[in-house]
Amino acid sequence: GGVSIFTLQLAKAAGATVIITSSSDEKLERAKALGADHLINYRATPDWDGKVLELTSGLGADLVVETGGTATFARAVNATAPGGTLFTIGFVTGAEATVNLLPIIIKALKVVGNNTGSVSDLRDAARAIGAARIEPVVDKVFSPDEAAEAYAHMAAGGLHFGKLVFGLEW
Ligand SMILES: NC(=O)c1ccc[n+]([C@@H]2O[C@H](COP(=O)([O-])OP(=O)(O)OC[C@H]3O[C@@H](n4cnc5c(N)ncnc54)[C@H](OP(=O)(O)O)[C@@H]3O)[C@@H](O)[C@H]2O)c1
Repeated sequence: GGVSIFTLQLAKAAGATVIITSSSDEKLERAKALGADHLINYRATPDWDGKVLELTSGLGADLVVETGGTATFARAVNATAPGGTLFTIGFVTGAEATVNLLPIIIKALKVVGNNTGSVSDLRDAARAIGAARIEPVVDKVFSPDEAAEAYAHMAAGGLHFGKLVFGLEW
């Protein structure tokens, strides 16, 4: 999705090794072209957290960007390395999750919430995007009077790769 593809681009610009998940092999190939190092199809590999551990010598990822919510949170906890950060952004599959606290406690994880970020965060992001010459991946641009169509496209789920954008005339 939009958050994940921007995360991939920023993480590669920061020099990270990136593991990305999708239900679509075609999307995974597009993510690979953007620099993703490891691809996991979460439909074909429902225990994708186990695959993350396998790819990281049993440790897990230092930073997990969690956009799924209900269906993914427990696996995201499992996929996070000791001392790592579980950045909790989204709730695509629901906002409620049953959590086993033990792995969070034992691995001393930092579970960090996020609500869009501040104006200064946005300035930092814009600076990073400019410095690394990141070209945002825009799937489709809608005009404001196409709002209903745009939201329906998003609600259909998984049709787009990268961002859906409203183009504004200034
Ligand atoms: N906290 C914040 O500041 C903030 C900011 C922006 C967005 N959000 C939230 O973050 C979430 C993602 O936003 P987005 O713009 O990236 O949405 P999006 O573009 O619609 O992407 C969502 C993606 O989630 C994946 N997905 C769906 N079901 C899944 C499952 N069961 N397991 C794993 N992945 C699954 C799908 O990927 P594939 O199609 O590749 O399978 C889908 O394309 C939303 O809940 C949004 O409200 C929060």
